[in-house]
Amino acid sequence: MASTATPIRLNLGCGDDLRPGYINVDKFPKDDSVVSADLPGLPFEANYADEIVLSHVLEHFGYADGVRLCQEIQRVLKPGGIAYIEVPDIQWCVAQFLGAPEPNGYTNPEYDYNTQHRWGLWAQAIWGDQHHDGLYHKWGYTAHRLLNLLNYVGFHPIEIQFVQSHRVQCLSARAAKPVAA
Ligand SMILES: C[S@@+](CC[C@H](N)C(=O)[O-])C[C@H]1O[C@@H](n2cnc3c(N)ncnc32)[C@H](O)[C@@H]1O
Repeated sequence: MASTATPIRLNLGCGDDLRPGYINVDKFPKDDSVVSADLPGLPFEANYADEIVLSHVLEHFGYADGVRLCQEIQRVLKPGGIAYIEVPDIQWCVAQFLGAPEPNGYTNPEYDYNTQHRWGLWAQAIWGDQHHDGLYHKWGYTAHRLLNLLNYVGFHPIEIQFVQSHRVQCLSARAAKPVAA
């Protein structure tokens, strides 16, 4: 008989994206509905969640903490559970940055999302908008690198697509925790 239990869904590093039906988690909670947690450690038991979303968060960790975060997601997912992980495509973002001209003078990058010169959106896509401590990018992912990371921590199968989101080209991964892990 099919299970009627409500699926457990986590949205890690939710920011302003508070999803109904999800346990929204962030180090800098937007409101009281958000679970406060400092990743990469996850305050959930093993084999707890059916789905985990990590949207534009992985790049906010250095490479070692990025591995640890993916391992934590593996631990907390149920066998057969799915992780949806999206990051900026660093290869595309760097190409936009290098392909754009320098501005005529110094620009303040704080809220500059200009795409006509290097130091607006393209710089923010590489280094983060830096509006608070949780919004610095500390590492980047090509499709090859993301695939190898997810494979390394034990996800299978893994599908990666190129999508447009957050005004840049992104890598959108769907990765399963194997049933027999
Ligand atoms: C660029 S925002 C992404 C927000 C949302 N997920 C989205 O797709 O638009 C990155 C989020 O990661 C959160 N974050 C950064 N470092 C964190 C940490 N160590 N623990 C938990 N959340 C963190 C930030 O507070 C921020 O809300």
